[in-house]
Amino acid sequence: MRAGVTEEEYVLNLYWGARLAFFSDISAASMPPDRSSQDVSLALAPEEYPAFGGLRFGELAAKITFADQTRDADLRFHDAEIGEQDGLPALRILLQDAVYPLQVALLYQVDVANDVIIRSACFTNQGADPIVLERVFSAVWHLPRQVVPRRLTTLGGHWAGESRLQQQQQVVTGTTLLESRKGVTGSHAYPWFALDTQANEQQGEVYFGTLAWSGNWALRIATTITGATAIGGGIHEHDFAWTLAAQTSFTTPDFVAGFTLDGMNGVRRRLHRYVREQVLPQKQASQPRPVLYNSWEATTFDVTEEGQRLLAERAAGLGVELFVVDDGWFPGRVHDRAGLGDWRVDPQKFPHGLRPLIERVKALGMQFGLWVEPEMVNADSDLYRLHPDWIYHFPQRPRSEARNQLVLNVGRQDVQAYLLTVLDQLLTENAIDFIKWDMNRPLAEPGWPEYVAQGGDAREIWVRHTQGVYTILDALRARHPELSIESCSSGGGRADLGVLRRTDQVWTSDNTHPDARLFIQEGISHILPGRVMGAWVTDMPHDRMVNEIPVQYRFHVAMMGALGIGGHLLHWSDEDLAEATRWIAVYKSIRHLVQDGDQYWLLSPTASKGDLAAVTSVAPDGSEAVLFAFRRSNPFWEPLPFLRLQGLQPATQYRVRELGNASVPEIILSGAALMGRGLELPLRHGSYASCLLHIRAEA
Ligand code: DGJ
Repeated sequence: MRAGVTEEEYVLNLYWGARLAFFSDISAASMPPDRSSQDVSLALAPEEYPAFGGLRFGELAAKITFADQTRDADLRFHDAEIGEQDGLPALRILLQDAVYPLQVALLYQVDVANDVIIRSACFTNQGADPIVLERVFSAVWHLPRQVVPRRLTTLGGHWAGESRLQQQQQVVTGTTLLESRKGVTGSHAYPWFALDTQANEQQGEVYFGTLAWSGNWALRIATTITGATAIGGGIHEHDFAWTLAAQTSFTTPDFVAGFTLDGMNGVRRRLHRYVREQVLPQKQASQPRPVLYNSWEATTFDVTEEGQRLLAERAAGLGVELFVVDDGWFPGRVHDRAGLGDWRVDPQKFPHGLRPLIERVKALGMQFGLWVEPEMVNADSDLYRLHPDWIYHFPQRPRSEARNQLVLNVGRQDVQAYLLTVLDQLLTENAIDFIKWDMNRPLAEPGWPEYVAQGGDAREIWVRHTQGVYTILDALRARHPELSIESCSSGGGRADLGVLRRTDQVWTSDNTHPDARLFIQEGISHILPGRVMGAWVTDMPHDRMVNEIPVQYRFHVAMMGALGIGGHLLHWSDEDLAEATRWIAVYKSIRHLVQDGDQYWLLSPTASKGDLAAVTSVAPDGSEAVLFAFRRSNPFWEPLPFLRLQGLQPATQYRVRELGNASVPEIILSGAALMGRGLELPLRHGSYASCLLHIRAEA
């Protein structure tokens, strides 16, 4: 039986949900009958890859224009094969246009262990005439009709307030569009969704998915009055076109999705494991992420060799393992109005180059990292003076600046070659272990006059830019296999599974206020595992004398991810430095859990309006866990309910102790008790209370 293929050779979705036991559970596909002349069969059929054409009016995966201006596609089943792709079992379904020489290969990789499906589509022009692709989504997913409305969860925000949970309590008829049109993933919306039916953090049915793409993207969640939902997503069609020349192919980014009965924590567990095992560069993913220091909040553009050395010495004393010089190390960069593009060391700030500082950092036992923003130029830079044609622009329009900078056309081969040469040189001449790759403004005025003059379609820019960034990152990693890279875009604006194939961590937000962070971290935890989520302890809030947040609380919040320090260490008191040293040592002892354990959120900051948070990270075999808990204020001096843990083995005895506070006695409780009865949290009364518990199976 060719399950899923109708007599007419259309490929339909038969089912998506909880695992079935037998292949025979899937019935043969047939086209649904016309409901009325307004609701004809093809419009009702849940096609796996519906392209604009014929009587299709639902969510579309593709829109294509052929050379004779036919704007109607007719993709029919041609062949299918099961094999392997990148180490995962893969089904490839070949669709062929009924008339034109266009083939579309639908790829379904199945990560059986981590319970996600990875879809993409590859278009091949088998003929001699060009074909124009105007929408090329990675997939359309179908959720079955149901009476009980589903709830849609998404992540929204902005600079310094990224990835906050948004919930539409009842998905009703219509289409929700999530998108970025900024040329980068963005911080106002994330290419991620979850659709649940009466689920909570711990249990219930959730469909979820995320796009592995760092340029313009769209997710369209379309629901009918019958409660059926189709989710289409991929590269945004806004201002997009791709000319598929004769005998060439175009492959979409991956769209990763899954289904769980284990609530939102089930979503996290699946995506975290998939990201760690299948997405992140594997060499680095097998090593602990180092505790880093970043100079940005301490020194901004006021970078000197002496100043950085002093910070590095303080940082090393705390146990920091990676010292990162942020913005401000290259010529002209005494403010944000000059210098971007000239990626060489400022001889005024570093008269002997970076070498003396790097040698000192290494002698202190740390790795060295450097900030770059390769996609950008300031008008006041040698690069822009030399190549004003290298930025996106329309000749008759202004070149709008944002943060005083312009965007290089990274789709151009010469720009890619230039950036690769200068970055490679920087990494070759200096013993740099880590770069922070930043991207601080959206693409605009997306013109490319030279390409147009050659007959090209400049609407390809949106894709070519991201492909160019990926090409450079891949080449740098190939040439420098030990290098680690942090993805940053004004904070968390480029935190997607596409960039994570070639980076090791993400700078989650420029907002390091612990109150804000709990929201931001809760949201992004639906996508990023702990090892990827960069979190620093800083001096924020800067009005500390008025609003003092204990060092412990700030550390606990940052210790939930890849810990960093961003405060001005030369201004920290001896007590603060001593406490920081203690917490960094504690972090190193538990980071295998924080970075690579299964994360269960137990108390939601969003649900408690920022007052409470609790999250536990558990070793996959349930033998060990850590628990972070926070209570911002307790105006009624009330005890909290017992907190019920997750992910432990019921019949195992666990020793529970508070880390960093030896005065609290240890207790021994079974997993059943910890998960069933729960735990009284040792949170002191008063504001900004937090605790960190270690839970280990008794031998
Ligand atoms: C934006 C980033 O998010 C900050 O951490 C810092 O690197 C600045 N850019 C530097 O300009």
